[in-house]
Amino acid sequence: MAGRNMEITVAKTAGFCFGVKRAVEKVYDQIATGKKQIYTYGPIIHNEEVVQDLEEKGVQVINSKEELEALKEGVVVIRSHGVGREIYELLERQGLELVDATCPFVKKIHKIVREQCEAGRRVIIVGNEHHPEVEGIKGWGNEYTLAVESLEEFENLALRPDEKLCIVAQTTFNYNKFQDLVEKISKTYYDILVLNTICNATKERQTEARQIAARVDAMVVIGDKRSSNTQKLFEICKEECLNTYYIQTLDDLDINQLRSVESVGITAGASTPNKIIEEVQNNVRINF
Ligand code: F3S
Repeated sequence: MAGRNMEITVAKTAGFCFGVKRAVEKVYDQIATGKKQIYTYGPIIHNEEVVQDLEEKGVQVINSKEELEALKEGVVVIRSHGVGREIYELLERQGLELVDATCPFVKKIHKIVREQCEAGRRVIIVGNEHHPEVEGIKGWGNEYTLAVESLEEFENLALRPDEKLCIVAQTTFNYNKFQDLVEKISKTYYDILVLNTICNATKERQTEARQIAARVDAMVVIGDKRSSNTQKLFEICKEECLNTYYIQTLDDLDINQLRSVESVGITAGASTPNKIIEEVQNNVRINF
């Protein structure tokens, strides 16, 4: 089959976004100083390959607040997802050195949440409440701060009609879904301040993925299974192209699935290293 004229389109926006790139670089910079034991609070990115490489270089992953409480020295890197206020306070109490790799776009949401709560608005985060980014954002709010993922969840909150609301989004939330949700919520009689905090990198990646998926016979989405933004990309591509495949690495790619297609699109989540994207792209080229 090799030599067939398969058209391959790789999304320009595939791979590391600015915030993830910055966070990963910060860890490697720390390794280069070689001074203290380095920890990351949670895996630095949702990518097993990168996390494993860091582990081999001596970086340890802290998985819970309890583990952090037990630490007495070292450098702790906060990843791009960010954390709530209490983690900063804990690090300070423990006398641990902090390297803050929170993405500036996430930091901006933390600031909004803090300020809007102080101004007396109830903050609603549109996103997955179990995702670390949303947990971190919530950690800058107060007891009234909530997260919802759908209109149904919002309606179930049974808020008082006179409540002042501020709505923000998880940076990787599906842009169209957010717009849709906000439009529906705005039709109610609440006093609402909507701040669309979906990051541009996400929006551009999603728009490009949708455009490519709409015109190819098969679409390959590369990213770790735990990566929220990759899951969203998969969802979007699947809407446009039934032959959409979600793979973590080249090993997951079943080339047989592409045998009968003439065009393939490739995109990848924000935590997918370029190396993996290139491997997949080269493999598809070699095979067709
Ligand atoms: Fe930051 Fe956007 Fe990436 S919020 S971590 S640049 S997806």
